[in-house]
Amino acid sequence: MNDAPLKVVASGADDNVTPEAGEGFVATPYVQDLTERVLSYLAAGYPVHFAGPAGTGKTTLAFHVAAQLDRPVTLIHGDDEFSSSDLIGRDSGYRRSKVVDNYIHSVLKTEENYNTTWEDNRLTTACEKGYTLIYDEFTRSRPEANNALLSVLEEKILNLPKLRRSGNGYIAVHPSFRAIFTSNPEEYAGVHKTQDALLDRLITINISHFDRSSEVKIAEAKSGLPRSDCEIIIDIIRELRQVGVNNNRPTIRACIAIARILAGVGGRAHTSNQAFMRICHDILAIDTAKVTRGGQSVMGDRVNEIVQSVCEKT
Ligand SMILES: Nc1ncnc2c1ncn2[C@@H]1O[C@H](COP(=O)(O)OP(=O)(O)O)[C@@H](O)[C@H]1O
Ligand SMILES: [Mg+2]
Repeated sequence: MNDAPLKVVASGADDNVTPEAGEGFVATPYVQDLTERVLSYLAAGYPVHFAGPAGTGKTTLAFHVAAQLDRPVTLIHGDDEFSSSDLIGRDSGYRRSKVVDNYIHSVLKTEENYNTTWEDNRLTTACEKGYTLIYDEFTRSRPEANNALLSVLEEKILNLPKLRRSGNGYIAVHPSFRAIFTSNPEEYAGVHKTQDALLDRLITINISHFDRSSEVKIAEAKSGLPRSDCEIIIDIIRELRQVGVNNNRPTIRACIAIARILAGVGGRAHTSNQAFMRICHDILAIDTAKVTRGGQSVMGDRVNEIVQSVCEKT
C-alpha cells in the first residue's frame, strides 16, 4: 500500500508536482474542519504553519490543503546545509554558444557568445508562476537561508540579491502564490530557533495527536488489517505514550508499521500470536528506551505488560 499522503504527479519539465487525493487518506471531521479554516486564511493571502510533534499528520495535512488549491506544488524540505541560493537560485556560470557559418566555403564566419546563466531555484519558480509552496520542516534550515521569504510573504516581492547578474534584481510574486509551512518545535536535534520576523508573518496552528478513533481509522486505512486488531494496536501505543519522558512517542507511524507487518504475515493482534508479540517488541521497545532501572532498559518488560493488559481487556 502506498504510504504517500497524496499521489504526486510530475507536471511538466520542472520538478513541481500536482497533488491528487491519495488512497488511504482519512478525512476526519477535525481534518475537514481544519482544512476549511486554513483554506480561508490562504484565500485571504496569509501563509499558514502547522507546528507539532512528529507523527501528528502535519505533512499529510499540508498536502491535503495544497491539493484543494488546485495549483502545482513546489515542495522544499528544510535542511541545515541550505543557503539562500538553494532557495532562490544561483549563477551557474557561463553558457558558451558558437555559431559556425560555413555556407560559402571560402568564407568562414564564427561567432561566439558568452552569457551568464542564472538557474532559478524552486522558490523563484513558485513565486514567478504562482505555485503552492510546501516548506516542510522549515526550521531545519538556518534562519538566514530563509530570509528571502520575509519580503515574499510581506511585500510580495522576491529579492534576487546581487547574485543574479542578468535581469531584474527582484520579481513580483504571482497573485496565486500560496505558502504552507510545517515544523516540529519539540525536536531538539538539528533544529534552529526560528527568527521571530518569519514566524510573525505566519498563521501558526498547533497540531497535536489524533484522537483514538481517528488513529484507528488511519491504521485501518493504511494496513487493511481488521478494525478490532487496529484498535488493540492503537490502545497499546496510546498506553505506551504515558510511559517515560516523551508523551509523543510512539507515534502513529509505529501503529501503521505494526499493522502493516501483521497484515503481511497474517494472524491476529493477540498475546497468543508469537509473531505479533515479536513485532511489537521490535518496533516499540526502542522508542522509550530511556526508561531504565538499575542501568537496564525496562522498556521490553513494559511493552509486554501493556500488550498483555490491552489484549486481556478485549
Ligand atoms: N488524515 C490522514 N489520513 C491517513 N493517513 C494519515 C493522515 N494523517 C497522517 N497520516 C499518516 O500518519 C503518518 C504520519 O503523518 P505525517 O503527515 O508524516 O506526520 P508529521 O508530518 O506530523 O510527522 C504517515 O504515515 C501518514 O501517511
Ligand atoms: Mg512531516
